Amino acid sequence: MRGQQQTSGLLGALRQRALLIVACAVVVASLAYVLSDRQEPRYEATALLNVISDTGPSLPGRQVEATPGEATAGARVSGTGAVAVRAARRAGVALGPASVSATQPEESNVIRVTASAPQPRAAADLANAFAVEFRAERRRRARAVLTRARDSIRRTLASIQTLRGGRERRIALGQRLDDLQLQIDVSTGGLEIADRAVPPAEAVSPRPRRDAMLGGLFGLVLGGALALLWSQADRRVRQLSELQDLSGLPVLGTIPRSRALSGRDALTLPAADAEAFRVVQANTRFFNPGLDVRSVIVTSAAPGEGKTTLAWNLAVAAASGGLRVLLIEADLRKPSLVDRYGLKDNGGLNELLSEGYCEISDVVQHVPIVAGVNGHGPKVGMSVVTAGRNPTNPSGLIASDRMRAIIARAETEHDLVVLDTPPVSVVSDAIPLLRVVGGVIVVSYLGRSTRDGVGALLTQLRHLEVRVLGVVANGGRHGDVYPYQ
Ligand SMILES: Nc1ncnc2c1ncn2[C@@H]1O[C@H](COP(=O)(O)OP(=O)(O)O)[C@@H](O)[C@H]1O
Ligand SMILES: [Mg+2]
Repeated sequence: MRGQQQTSGLLGALRQRALLIVACAVVVASLAYVLSDRQEPRYEATALLNVISDTGPSLPGRQVEATPGEATAGARVSGTGAVAVRAARRAGVALGPASVSATQPEESNVIRVTASAPQPRAAADLANAFAVEFRAERRRRARAVLTRARDSIRRTLASIQTLRGGRERRIALGQRLDDLQLQIDVSTGGLEIADRAVPPAEAVSPRPRRDAMLGGLFGLVLGGALALLWSQADRRVRQLSELQDLSGLPVLGTIPRSRALSGRDALTLPAADAEAFRVVQANTRFFNPGLDVRSVIVTSAAPGEGKTTLAWNLAVAAASGGLRVLLIEADLRKPSLVDRYGLKDNGGLNELLSEGYCEISDVVQHVPIVAGVNGHGPKVGMSVVTAGRNPTNPSGLIASDRMRAIIARAETEHDLVVLDTPPVSVVSDAIPLLRVVGGVIVVSYLGRSTRDGVGALLTQLRHLEVRVLGVVANGGRHGDVYPYQ
């Protein structure tokens, strides 16, 4: 059963983290989609150039050969900046919004000219113009090299024209000159256009769906990181098992989070809620056999964790079980019994302690309790001493000998005395009483109390050598099962 409860608490925490991760993924994916969708579209068109031997066009089907040094290592073809400018002019496209580049994969005889532009036709025109200009540039360069060689031979020929015995050399040079001239005439520059670019039907970017998917993946990672941070930063005690591990104390019971307990009219509780307090009351005895616990203090690390709720209902549970019970509101600073349970406001513990002339019987109120399931049962009652009115020195009053005497006397006249106190970690009022009573019950509100708060309170109680009877987990769920240890 404990396993079941632990699993449900763990699942709750995991569900919250999972929700955060999914929310992050959805938000980032939507953002990526919207941003991507708002971008200007870009089209890409590709023209192909074959690298051929520089003696003329390749024949169809012939294996073209790259001229030495032509194959760059799968990278951009260098020296294309000026060509790009000329190509853009030729295509009537502005560089900037449009761009063009040429790459030649390693070991390949093909140069890919890729142009991108905001319009499909501009992309194709730019790629084609680049291919034409690039081929022309190569041809110009090849011819320039050959022309320089030819001119050099011409000069040599002219210089040896008058030399005797140079006839053979002149014939050889003349031959070379003719060859070079022929080469100049037929030189292609080593490139031919293999494939012209056509306007693409679809844009390459934006691709909102792909971007949304990538955004979603990024969101998942981001959400995961945030969930991790959250887990580390969240110091709240969420699970019953956590409270038990943290305290190392017996869990006396779980009080469900319920509308009846949060409301003003908390006098008659649904059966399930009332039963939870009966379990706490029974376990207080059951877990501490041999101890005749006649008085208990209910305390917690912080305000609002359910001390008053537990003190009142524990007293009711004991009284409905036939015990003579006295509930003392020893929280003189923030009393709430009068308001919450509709009691009379005509003096209480403050008057009893400070004025010194009245007896418990002067301030005690008898609260009728209907025992049994859903109010069907014998009428019993419990005694309540409320806090009274505005004390000037609450801690002094609570620490007084008179207070001890009141408790000692009450213990003799009742089976159980329950004291509702302010949180001992926050105000010191209850500290002198902790060792006067039979035991202390610590209450924590799951999902509200922090590990640091509970830890500090338990350390404090240990140092004060207080007998802690156990812890109560408030604010659980109705389905939570009490863990039998
Ligand atoms: N199990 C519960 N379910 C719903 N509300 C609760 C529960 N326990 C306490 N509360 C509410 O929480 C508030 C603080 O409880 P209270 O008993 O006054 O705490 P404390 O005495 O520790 O300051 C009150 O409004 C109370 O009605
Ligand atoms: Mg209180």
